[in-house]
Amino acid sequence: MTHLAHHDMKMYGGIKLYAGTGSPELAQKVADYLGEPLCGRDIIQFPNENLFVKLHSSARGQDVYVIQTTSSPVHRNLMELLIMVQTLRLDSAARITAVVPYFAYGRSDKKDQPRVPITARLVADMMEVAGADRYILIEPHAGQVQGFFSVPGDVLTAFHMIADHLKSIKPQLHDPVVVTVDLGFAKKGRNVAAEIDAPIAFIEKRRVANDAKAQALTVIGDVKNRDVVLVDDEIDTGGSIVQAVNLVKEYGARDVYVICVHPIFSASAAERLAALPVKQFITTDTVPISPEKAALLGDRLKILSVSSLLGEVILRAHEGRSVGEMFNE
Ligand code: R5P
Repeated sequence: MTHLAHHDMKMYGGIKLYAGTGSPELAQKVADYLGEPLCGRDIIQFPNENLFVKLHSSARGQDVYVIQTTSSPVHRNLMELLIMVQTLRLDSAARITAVVPYFAYGRSDKKDQPRVPITARLVADMMEVAGADRYILIEPHAGQVQGFFSVPGDVLTAFHMIADHLKSIKPQLHDPVVVTVDLGFAKKGRNVAAEIDAPIAFIEKRRVANDAKAQALTVIGDVKNRDVVLVDDEIDTGGSIVQAVNLVKEYGARDVYVICVHPIFSASAAERLAALPVKQFITTDTVPISPEKAALLGDRLKILSVSSLLGEVILRAHEGRSVGEMFNE
């Protein structure tokens, strides 16, 4: 019998990448970054809408990453993720990490009125019950989502790469000011402003009960005769950003740039955005944008890929190296 010295023993096997159907292009880019193929699997929907997953090869003893965003179709994507994770667990994968670039239900993060759920907690629980040992999320709506998991994970910010893009266009910005679309985003907005060495202003916004339409009220700070960089974590219906753009324009802003990490662009958001006097929409590929919606925004749409961010974090997680080091933390 061979006795391996402790330091020779590997806890997990090689990296194995799997992807659901939520964000195939992003998954392929992550695979390209890592130089690892996406492993084969079948995902079949039966006539009764039940899903079925079959892996093409064994994942036994491997360090597995399941890349699946949970944007539209939300429930199909979520079930694909859960079923894939369970399939891998039953196949005796050594470690399973759910890589979820956009985390569905992130906005249901607290009881802010009586008799309502905390669905983000439920989603976290479901991922763990399915068999996820770890998770990787990008910019979930609220930090407390980290506390909804009892397994460890990496919660990544996309704002370093967005700030890098802003730095690259800064020479063409006239007296830029970073403006957050609501006060809840003030801290993250301040970090972006600090990275590009610009002042900060805020929009005070209130939601009316459960109405998806938000109401922007006032701008706190100076935007007059300045180029405005509006920041938010996601654009869903576009209601908040339409109000924000109109408001800063009323307050005398010059050119307006819009940043959002997650381009949900539901319903007619893309049409509404296209009609806005915005110079550039800067976003990421945590959520795929259909070619039709992208065409509406044309050259004004700048999509930064999170693939190298995810790829590097997967590599470091696999090798047991610090992720904080990537951000000088
Ligand atoms: C809200 O708290 C978020 O930060 C976004 O402002 C919101 O999700 C955007 O939603 P919509 O585009 O539907 O206004």
